[in-house]
Amino acid sequence: MKDIDAKVLSSDMLAEGLIRIILYAPDIAAQAKPGQFIHMLVPDNAHVLRRPISLMAMDAHAGTLTLAIQPKGRGTQILCAMKPGDSVKCLGPLGTGFDGGDAKTIYFVGGGVGVAPICGAMDAFATETSCAFFGFRTRNHVYGMTQAPCRVVAVSDDGSIGEKALVTKPLLEEIEKKRPDLIMACGPTPMLAAVQKIAVERDIPCQLSLEERMGCGIGACLGCNVKITCPDGSWCYKRVCKDGPVFDAKEVAFGG
Ligand SMILES: Cc1cc2nc3c(=O)[nH]c(=O)nc-3n(C[C@H](O)[C@H](O)[C@H](O)COP(=O)(O)OP(=O)(O)OC[C@H]3O[C@@H](n4cnc5c(N)ncnc54)[C@H](O)[C@@H]3O)c2cc1C
Ligand code: FES
Repeated sequence: MKDIDAKVLSSDMLAEGLIRIILYAPDIAAQAKPGQFIHMLVPDNAHVLRRPISLMAMDAHAGTLTLAIQPKGRGTQILCAMKPGDSVKCLGPLGTGFDGGDAKTIYFVGGGVGVAPICGAMDAFATETSCAFFGFRTRNHVYGMTQAPCRVVAVSDDGSIGEKALVTKPLLEEIEKKRPDLIMACGPTPMLAAVQKIAVERDIPCQLSLEERMGCGIGACLGCNVKITCPDGSWCYKRVCKDGPVFDAKEVAFGG
């Protein structure tokens, strides 16, 4: 883990309401794994707490990290306004990543901004028989499809791209045709809860990347705790920043 001054190489609009930023951060790019994140200091001297942002792609050779940032509140708005040549303090890589293990067929599930870390996971783990299922609000929100290393099925809220459906619909249809060895998912909590149910009911190994508001980002403040179910049925809390953000679907207790 390093705390570095990363340089903004480029910034452009990836899709409606989503800015792609490419950073030169060789020390982090050399160590980063798909599913990990960086903690970015908002470059305005006013925000003390950093903002966690996933890695959409990392290129150890070029020393770059690709991010997809949704300008949600003030912090991400300022990050999205950065221009080439600007510097931004980044701590990372942080957290656990996705683990493809020896899975031969992986189904990837991404919703909205959660498609970004799934793109990184696909680059690392997709095989010929793998398939990705992406859910977007409309066709204007689509990204991550053109250079995908495996088949991608997209759906949308309004039917302007793919079926008008939740992303779990094509996922279920594909599972009925061919059961995957592993599912990896990132997206809004209701989507993750639905994917968890599908996977647990069918005993399919599944990894979920969770989001929680963060303080320190390194496991010290307990600000990002989530409820986790233990194998004996009892529960405890784990930290999204340090123990996650990627968790085994069987241990996540949504709504806790
Ligand atoms: C591990 C991890 C990876 C992430 N990766 C990305 C990414 O790749 N791209 C991206 O755009 N965003 C990502 N996020 C979410 C991003 O960090 C938050 O949107 C951001 O911190 C909000 O800061 P802000 O100052 O813009 O908004 P604030 O003014 O702090 O908040 C604006 C709104 O967003 C809500 N919010 C703030 N933080 C979160 C959060 N963590 N989860 C859900 N809602 C939140 C607030 O409740 C409020 O409604 C990630 C979060 C985590 C935990
Ligand atoms: S943000 Fe401090 S423990 Fe996770």
